[in-house]
Amino acid sequence: AGSVEVDISGIAVGQILTVKWRGKPIFVSHRTPEEIAAVRAVPLNELKDPATDQSRVQKPEWLIVIGICTHLGCVPLGNEGPYHGFFCPCHGSVYDPSGRIRQGPAPANLVVPPYKFVSDAKISIG
Ligand code: FES
Repeated sequence: AGSVEVDISGIAVGQILTVKWRGKPIFVSHRTPEEIAAVRAVPLNELKDPATDQSRVQKPEWLIVIGICTHLGCVPLGNEGPYHGFFCPCHGSVYDPSGRIRQGPAPANLVVPPYKFVSDAKISIG
């Protein structure tokens, strides 16, 4: 109870699926090789809320985050903004494809929910 299984096999590279978990939007992002390389090349001292990309994902191709802006709780837009990550239209917070805050008023990175891979094609959130 409280967990949700998501079939990720139909999410094409570059696409983001939004699912609901405990009433919250969860972004499941199938990242491109270019996005993975870019987020892994960022020096930690350039980040407001320093975290390696490796610490935020279980598999490089898949970013799974709670889709709630850490500023005041709006739902950011995916594949938007200068880093082609997430952009919050409420007050302009910009997140990279690792969900890390890069510009704007949000104080912290998008939160990674508890999840696990049930198989290569399925995750369980919660
Ligand atoms: Fe996202 Fe303010 S709620 S920038």
